[in-house]
Amino acid sequence: MRFTDLIEEKKAGKALTKEEISWWIKSYVKGKIPDYQVSALLMAIVFRGMNEEETLNLTLEMMHSGDILDLSSINGVTVDKHSTGGVGDKTSLVLGPLAASCGVKMAKMSGRGLGFTGGTIDKLESIPGFSTVMPRDHFLRQVNRIGFAIVGQSGNLVPADKKLYALRDVTGTVNSIPLIASSIMSKKLAAGSQVILLDVKYGSGAFMKTKEDARRLAGTMIRIGEGAGRRMTAMITDMQTPLGCAIGNRLEVMEAVQTLAGGGPADLKELCMAGGRLLLTRSGLAADAEEADRKLEQALSSGAALEKLAQMVHAQGGDESCIYHPEKLLQAPHRTALVSPAGGWVVREDALTLGEAAMRLGAGRAKKDDRIDPDAGIVLQVKPGQQIEEGQPLAYVYHRDLLTEEWTRHVMSAFEIGSEKPETVPLIEEVLE
Ligand code: URA
Repeated sequence: MRFTDLIEEKKAGKALTKEEISWWIKSYVKGKIPDYQVSALLMAIVFRGMNEEETLNLTLEMMHSGDILDLSSINGVTVDKHSTGGVGDKTSLVLGPLAASCGVKMAKMSGRGLGFTGGTIDKLESIPGFSTVMPRDHFLRQVNRIGFAIVGQSGNLVPADKKLYALRDVTGTVNSIPLIASSIMSKKLAAGSQVILLDVKYGSGAFMKTKEDARRLAGTMIRIGEGAGRRMTAMITDMQTPLGCAIGNRLEVMEAVQTLAGGGPADLKELCMAGGRLLLTRSGLAADAEEADRKLEQALSSGAALEKLAQMVHAQGGDESCIYHPEKLLQAPHRTALVSPAGGWVVREDALTLGEAAMRLGAGRAKKDDRIDPDAGIVLQVKPGQQIEEGQPLAYVYHRDLLTEEWTRHVMSAFEIGSEKPETVPLIEEVLE
């Protein structure tokens, strides 16, 4: 087989065979095909696409390029959840303990944040002492004992994706539904869970800018997962506006704790309840949505879900007193209010602009090796559809260095204040099963 033949075939719009895909991935991981040839094939895929069979074959080949987690020693139904990423998305910190306290076993591998989107590992590591690295047998034991563990992605999980993603990142080939779907699903399948919930976001603060693309990506990932024998479900959700109010690592942990304690922003609770409902029904732990809701509400009101987070933090070396006294996490030296220049209605709070502004404060990293400031961030005080007065705080900024005029101008451009009550979009656009 010659790699140039594969490039020519795809350039002409033909489908690659299972054997061709297998040879491509195996040889690339072994370093036998140069990056410049693989980037030419990736670009041909961006323009010509891949059919369902090719996408499934690519995913399975990538999945088998490294370690595969064996979760068979875990008693109960193993579940996983993946968000395609967004601003203020602390869902895993709420949904994980909430669902685990209702009986599911969540063995989760998460990533770090890059650019304007946050990552669960950075949020957890902002809790003093918390470790996201542990031997495989400890990880499995913790899931069996507590029902819930989150660690960073193991070194040899889907090495094909590590190489391909790094190449896509610098060759303008990220933006392709079959490539994104195979990248995400190869990691989810290798992580071993039986039930997989996808939160596919659309809007300015998401990978997918439109609902239609989010729906297509979700459909492709569901078919891949089902083709590989997993129980799949997906929510299509809005990321035009940040999720909840807090953006920034410790601030988001605090908001997750408030939500588990029965408070927290309404949108965050809505999303976690919807995700919990799907996980419990798909796992067979609730007969229907009503029974799932009863169990989830009981876990929140009894304190069981909050206690589950504290148990997990303790098991992973973190200071669990921060879960019962989250104010201990608040350590930024300065808090500054951003006030509304006019009265009226909040029409828009742009997730992308707010995510970028938080990143520039130090809450995220622009480049992979940047250090993050766990204390930095923004807490929104209003949400779209709310009526406000001139001078009312729109948000509080938590920061270490003085805010520049340019930064303040940039962050203020995220807020649009109008004279009429706007139409608001539903947080959950659709659920796909
Ligand atoms: N997240 C991934 O893991 N892979 C992609 O290709 C895009 C987002």
